[in-house]
Amino acid sequence: MAIREILEFPDPRLREVGEPVTVFDDSLRQLVEDMAETMYDAPGVGLAAPQIGVSKRIFVIDIAGEDEPSDLMVFINPEILSLDGTQQWEEGCLSFPGATETVKRAEHVRVRAQDAHGKAFELEADGLLAVAIQHENDHLNGVLFFDHLPPDRRGAFLEENRKELADMQRQAKAFLRDLRTRAPADARAGGERAGKPPGTRPNGTRTRR
Ligand code: NI
Repeated sequence: MAIREILEFPDPRLREVGEPVTVFDDSLRQLVEDMAETMYDAPGVGLAAPQIGVSKRIFVIDIAGEDEPSDLMVFINPEILSLDGTQQWEEGCLSFPGATETVKRAEHVRVRAQDAHGKAFELEADGLLAVAIQHENDHLNGVLFFDHLPPDRRGAFLEENRKELADMQRQAKAFLRDLRTRAPADARAGGERAGKPPGTRPNGTRTRR
């Protein structure tokens, strides 16, 4: 068992279409175990193989609440047989940390898939499970949850999150700059200069190099 790295948007691998699984062997079951462990660790209610850089038609889901026993569901080569009704949930994605948006989905879904031993099953789902199945199945086709937003909201969503990303990068750069300028000065002054702006020596000489 191993926790795998979860790819984050805009990693291009998230846009790939997954290949069908043809061999149901121990290495497949190992992959499924890793996916489950990665999902629980995140934590999330679903994870698709492309999110860990494996371009295959596999996803795992566990929508059990915190007080309920875990209920791992494994879907391999899933096929959506029917979609009915509509519902809206505030959705997030492990490949898009921190961002959520209200997405319109079908209320009922009927799906056929195989388990980790290749055994076929059919399932009818509604509510959160139906949302999770549709969200994860999308990942197998390179589709991300915000692709379902109306065009104007999709643009605003990406713009907002781009800004947030840019802010984080700016803050990280400022932090590193601050570390670079402060560390040598503090070392020389024995740490007594706490509270003075970084990069300023008492006599005004520059400390940045
Ligand atoms: Ni997702």
